[in-house]
Amino acid sequence: MGKLEGRTAIVTGGARGIGAHYSRALAAAGARVMIADIADGSALAAEIETACGAGSAASATCDVSDEAQVARLAAGAIARFGGIDILVNNAALYSSLPPVRCTEIDVALWDQVMAVNVRGPFLMVKHVAPHMIARKGGKVINIASGTAYKGLPDFLHYVTSKGAIVAFTRALSRELGAHNVCVNTLAPGLILSDTGLANAAHLDQTRAPVIASRAIKRDGYPADLLGALVFLASADSDFVTGQTIAVDGGSVNT
Ligand SMILES: NC(=O)c1ccc[n+]([C@@H]2O[C@H](COP(=O)([O-])OP(=O)(O)OC[C@H]3O[C@@H](n4cnc5c(N)ncnc54)[C@H](O)[C@@H]3O)[C@@H](O)[C@H]2O)c1
Repeated sequence: MGKLEGRTAIVTGGARGIGAHYSRALAAAGARVMIADIADGSALAAEIETACGAGSAASATCDVSDEAQVARLAAGAIARFGGIDILVNNAALYSSLPPVRCTEIDVALWDQVMAVNVRGPFLMVKHVAPHMIARKGGKVINIASGTAYKGLPDFLHYVTSKGAIVAFTRALSRELGAHNVCVNTLAPGLILSDTGLANAAHLDQTRAPVIASRAIKRDGYPADLLGALVFLASADSDFVTGQTIAVDGGSVNT
């Protein structure tokens, strides 16, 4: 029996990039997964259902920065699955962001990054946490980034948003702990995901120095994140909350 048998999960940004690997991994561990993304997740949901059985995955189109859409997503997931045990706040503006100097970031872009990367997780919690509280338990996994610890030039908006996620986790864990809801941060280092490889303009310039900064000197891949993800989603981490687990080959120490 999988560690997440009988559990239900929402993965935001779960249709592509690293999020698609999270969706597959949670389902493979036994959870029923709602893939929530601005991108169409129906093909991935069908793939997961083929691999893990009918009803193991569904998809919904949702912009996490929009409260009405988030409210609909949460209500829809509960109607379909009967509850939500695991929330993975993974959706973010990341691989589509070109490098830009701090003096040249448009205010509109700054606000957009904050809306998706910070307001999004907040709205998800606002609409999902009441159901976790009512069920007297749950797991919130917020995806930050090692860049929140060591910085990255030309990505001030992104790095700031990921720093906010670390604080968001700490504050939320204090508030939801009384309800047996664990809130933790997973902070990946540079990960060679399909979307990252296709779009990340900074990859060429950062890859070699990132590997040099690691204790384990190799590239990171989505598969490297899945053990920590399932741990944080499962009963194995029931007494772990407010923490950041960096999965980056030992580049930062949280
Ligand atoms: N790839 C890396 O090296 C790396 C490193 C550290 C942290 N991260 C974090 O991991 C997560 C996934 O990274 P990735 O490389 O797959 O990023 P990505 O940019 O390729 O994918 C992000 C996902 O979020 C979705 N999305 C974007 N805006 C959305 C919105 N408004 N509402 C709902 N969904 C939306 C996208 O469609 C996509 O599926 C992000 O939170 C990112 O910040 C990535």
